[in-house]
Amino acid sequence: MPGIINWNELWKATHAGGFHHHGKDLAAHWDSRARLFNKRVMKNREWAKSQVAILGLTPSETVLDMGAGTGRLALPLARQAKSVTALDQSAGMLACLQENMAAEGIGNIRCIQKSWNDVSLDELEPHDVVLSSNSLGVYDLKEALTKMDALAKRAVYIFTFSDGKRDDGLRQFLRENRDGESTDGKRGSWHGRSEIGPASYLVIYNLLAEMGILADIKMMNWQSDVHYASLDEAVAEWKEMHEVPDEKDQQLREFLSQRMTKDGSGLCMHRSHRQVLISWQKGGSSPA
Ligand SMILES: C[S@@+](CC[C@H](N)C(=O)[O-])C[C@H]1O[C@@H](n2cnc3c(N)ncnc32)[C@H](O)[C@@H]1O
Repeated sequence: MPGIINWNELWKATHAGGFHHHGKDLAAHWDSRARLFNKRVMKNREWAKSQVAILGLTPSETVLDMGAGTGRLALPLARQAKSVTALDQSAGMLACLQENMAAEGIGNIRCIQKSWNDVSLDELEPHDVVLSSNSLGVYDLKEALTKMDALAKRAVYIFTFSDGKRDDGLRQFLRENRDGESTDGKRGSWHGRSEIGPASYLVIYNLLAEMGILADIKMMNWQSDVHYASLDEAVAEWKEMHEVPDEKDQQLREFLSQRMTKDGSGLCMHRSHRQVLISWQKGGSSPA
């Protein structure tokens, strides 16, 4: 029963862009970035290892990875679990996942191309663990969380961004140079999220509480070094990944060059992220 704040309606109001990313269908958005995303995330596996360790899987357990992407987590999960169901709406991301499976000789991942919004409870069997990592591109959050809870036998784990200083200056840079929107913090969008609402993880946490699920919540720091052969390579990648228009090339070049240091093979950008883990074990009180 919603109180003064209706968290699900607040999510809908502030995340409507999650459905249509910058005017494009979210699946098409990820289709077009799949190769680049895969190249980047597969080079940096340390964070994935620590995420997987948190799940404490046993070899007899099954995992449902909602929004699995190119398998950054599904691949290491499959080495520990009995099997993994990797669901993603993007054919391009799943194609990369399948190539990664073949390259690494992994056969116990079943890929399902579908949006979580369109999944009905009777078409998927319950899994021991249900996971979502930066993949809640959903309009009706309550429905999405209800399905995750219903399909989990042991636990649900949601990794999400803190919406805080995810990358020094990056949000501000994109707001000024891509979205062309004001920088007063009152308008603007970042990956489909409006800047006026509370941080996404607070909405998720509070909505779960309203549903009768008292989840655990943890802030986690994640550092990574991203290597580039040259500034040109970095500019090309960032343009593609973040949809920076051609006329902003110079600004992007300056922004990136200020953040990179020389290393043995070219340039290195140190990135620091703050992730939130929201999790709950099954067997407590059932959702309202
Ligand atoms: C940032 S990537 C994260 C991929 C992976 N979970 C990881 O941590 O590396 C987001 C992925 O979630 C998928 N996704 C987002 N919302 C989804 C939804 N409602 N249904 C299915 N897939 C979704 C996207 O297609 C994309 O592949």
